[in-house]
Amino acid sequence: MNIMNVDYSTKIPNNVNLSEDRQVLKALEGWHPGYMDWWSDMGPEGFQQSLVYLRTAYSVDPRGWAKFDYVKMPEYRWGILLAPQEENRVIPFGENFGKPAWQEVPGEHRATLRRLIVIQGDTEPASVEQQRHLGKTAPSLYDLRNLFQVNVEEGRHLWAMVYLLQKYFGRDGREEADELLRRRSGDADSPRMLGAFNEATPDWLSFFMFTYFTDRDGKMQLHSLAQSGFDPLSRTCRFMLTEEAHHMFVGETGISRVVQRTCEAMKAAGISDPSDIAKVRALGVVDLPTLQKKLNLHYSLSLDLFGSEVSTNAANAFNAGIKGRYHETQIKDDHHLQNDTYPVLKLVNGEIKRVDEPALTALNMRLRDDYTQDCVKGLLRWNKIISTAGYDFKLTLPNVAFHRQIGEFRDIHATPDGVLIDDASWSKRKGEWLPSADDGDFIASLMTPVTEVGEFAPWISPPKVGIDNKPGDFEYVKIET
Ligand SMILES: [Fe+2]
Ligand SMILES: [Fe+2]
Repeated sequence: MNIMNVDYSTKIPNNVNLSEDRQVLKALEGWHPGYMDWWSDMGPEGFQQSLVYLRTAYSVDPRGWAKFDYVKMPEYRWGILLAPQEENRVIPFGENFGKPAWQEVPGEHRATLRRLIVIQGDTEPASVEQQRHLGKTAPSLYDLRNLFQVNVEEGRHLWAMVYLLQKYFGRDGREEADELLRRRSGDADSPRMLGAFNEATPDWLSFFMFTYFTDRDGKMQLHSLAQSGFDPLSRTCRFMLTEEAHHMFVGETGISRVVQRTCEAMKAAGISDPSDIAKVRALGVVDLPTLQKKLNLHYSLSLDLFGSEVSTNAANAFNAGIKGRYHETQIKDDHHLQNDTYPVLKLVNGEIKRVDEPALTALNMRLRDDYTQDCVKGLLRWNKIISTAGYDFKLTLPNVAFHRQIGEFRDIHATPDGVLIDDASWSKRKGEWLPSADDGDFIASLMTPVTEVGEFAPWISPPKVGIDNKPGDFEYVKIET
């Protein structure tokens, strides 16, 4: 079969020749009904009978891989798609540097690989669960469609990880695949594995922040796993990254459109001080200081996903050739890191300082730094909109010590500027930096759904271009209740 094109003749679309892989096909077909139950219980609330203008992958050719058409979400063709195998690919880092990439799981790395795949897999359905109620308050059909596109693709990413578990990890892989459908975001007894994936996504501003900041953590993790010496994992992640780009686009442009609308409204009303929250809110738009608080929250929660700054697990996974660095193959060094150091932000005698650590154990810190650099790009765009509108206000990323639950700074409190403060000051002041209940109520008050074709809620601007180049009055979702 042609690896570029996806076989849609089988129940589970794929480009991995499933029809000749009876055992795995059977396992996946056995898992399918549970997935559909999960989707109907925990997928988007409502709209399941609506026709949604969605893209489906029909190929893994980067030049053209998606087809847009109306589908009902439960009929979406969730498939298993791996990027084409690179001929003679070698392991690009670690102790096995230069050896042929593995096509099967090496026995000694089985547990580590399984754990990484399960953790990645767990995040995919979690975000769908977190976002399931958002359809009810979508600011437009365009946004509603984008939400559902992200949701079905996260569903596909779950399939991607489940395929790896079922094909390469035998019985325990099948058990893990079932567990992925059993855990629930925010559940007291059986939560999702990572903190940020158990938080609520209460409103559309949170959704945009989540897709900008938390999906971007996903991007960094997928990039590192795309370097893996375990070739099927590498190929899986490479294709997932193609889809993931759209999720972050939704976040970046979503926030841009909110900023745009706020600036326009302030200008029209003759407001010169963007920090005059009451005046701005009276216009029915999101004030910039509240936007900054939302940003503080989602950025800090996402930083926690990188784990401890100094980690022997990360060092072991690198040494073994399982998880590499961001853009590993483009880095000009020996890819062994045995004698290198990397500066790590640490708490030293009550001060935040850079300390050189062995580069191997500092890999989480390095990936987090790469992530922060990637985050900055969006801030530049948002700040450009603000300054172009003539306002003196800058959105900024808070200090990495701010509001952390994992790593070096989990036991201390710091301001967004990185000034250490005591518990009492934190309790007194945290409402200045993180969304308060009042802020949440205000945002919730804006979240009234808009379902007329081509219309947008008054707190957000229309997008510059439509999805699939569709015109502004395109009916992205044909609502059927
Ligand atoms: Fe994903
Ligand atoms: Fe995503």
